[in-house]
Amino acid sequence: MQTEYPKVPVGIVDSEGFRLDVCAGLRQRQRSIPPKYFYDAQGSALFGQICETAEYYLTRTETAILDEHSAEMMGLIGQPCALVEFGCGSAVKTPLLLRHLDSSSVCVLIDICKPQLEQTEARLAAQFPNIKIFAVCADYTQLEALPLPVSCDLRPVIFFPGSTIGNYTPEEAQHLLRKAAKLIGPNGSMLIGVDCKKEPVILNAAYNDKAGLTKAFNLNLLARMERELGAKLEPDGFAHYAYYNPVPGRVEMHLVSRFDQVIRISGEEFWIGEGESIQTENSYKYWPDEFQDLAKSAGWDTEMVWTDADKFFSIHLLRVS
Ligand code: AVJ
Repeated sequence: MQTEYPKVPVGIVDSEGFRLDVCAGLRQRQRSIPPKYFYDAQGSALFGQICETAEYYLTRTETAILDEHSAEMMGLIGQPCALVEFGCGSAVKTPLLLRHLDSSSVCVLIDICKPQLEQTEARLAAQFPNIKIFAVCADYTQLEALPLPVSCDLRPVIFFPGSTIGNYTPEEAQHLLRKAAKLIGPNGSMLIGVDCKKEPVILNAAYNDKAGLTKAFNLNLLARMERELGAKLEPDGFAHYAYYNPVPGRVEMHLVSRFDQVIRISGEEFWIGEGESIQTENSYKYWPDEFQDLAKSAGWDTEMVWTDADKFFSIHLLRVS
C-alpha cells in the first residue's frame, strides 16, 4: 500500500551512523555497542527464531496476554485510533490489536530494519485490507514528530511491545517516555510490554538458549561489522556471555574476548585484552508497580496493567497525565 505522506528521513539508520556509534562505543572504558544494531536482515531473522525457543518465554507470554485481553484493551483506548508501533519487527503481535480496529483507524509501523519492514507492511496490508497501514523506516528514538497524516483526528496510541523499553537504563527510559508523551499529545495513550523481575535461573536460560540462537544473534553483530564496516576482527575470538545482574535488575549481554586482540575499523585500532568485554545489550526487568512509578515520573498515568498467571510479563495501558 502506498503511503500518503513523506517518510521520515532514515539518517541514523545508514552505515555511517553504525560506524560512528561502533567506533565511539569501542573507545569507551567499558566498550559497548547500542543493541539497535543487532537488527540487520540476519539479526532480525535470528531474533524471530529466538522468540520461538522454549527458553525465551517473553514473546509467547506477551502474545497470550494480548490474545486474551486485546478486545478490552482496544475498548479502553477508544476508536477510531491511530496505532503507532515503535520497533515493530515482524509485527507478530500487531494483528491481535488490528482485528479489533474499525475501518477508519490507521496503523503506522516504525522500524529500522528496512527489508523486514517492507515485508511486514505488505503482510499486514493484505491481512487487513480495510485498515490503512503505513510504514516508516526510522529509529523511533530520533522522531521529531509522530509520523501521522496531518489532518488526522484519530485517538493516537503508541504500541511498544516486546519489552524493548528494557534496552534503556531507567534514566534513558524515563527520557524516552517523556519524549513520547510530548510527541503523542494530551489525549494520547500507550500500550507497552514490560518483562518482569523473576528467578535468575529463568532469566539466564532465556538469554542462553540451548540451540545457540542468542549466541548467534550476539555474534552476528561482529559479522555485521565485518560486512558493513569492513572491520578486521576475529569472529571466533569472542564468547557469548549473558547473565542476570540483580543489583541493577537487568540481563547484560557481552562479547568477551578469548585472547588479546585488535579490531581494525577505518584505520583505527581497538586493543582488547583477554577476558575484556564489549557490552552489547542491557535488558532491564521491572515489577509492575516499579514500572508504574517510572511511567508516572515521565508524565504517564497507569490506567490498567495485565499480566499472565506466573507474573512473568506485564502489559501497561498508560495515559498522558
Ligand atoms: C527485543 C530487546 C526485548 O532484551 O529480551 C533477545 C532482545 N536479546 N535475546 C530482549 C534479545 C537477547 C530482546 N528485546
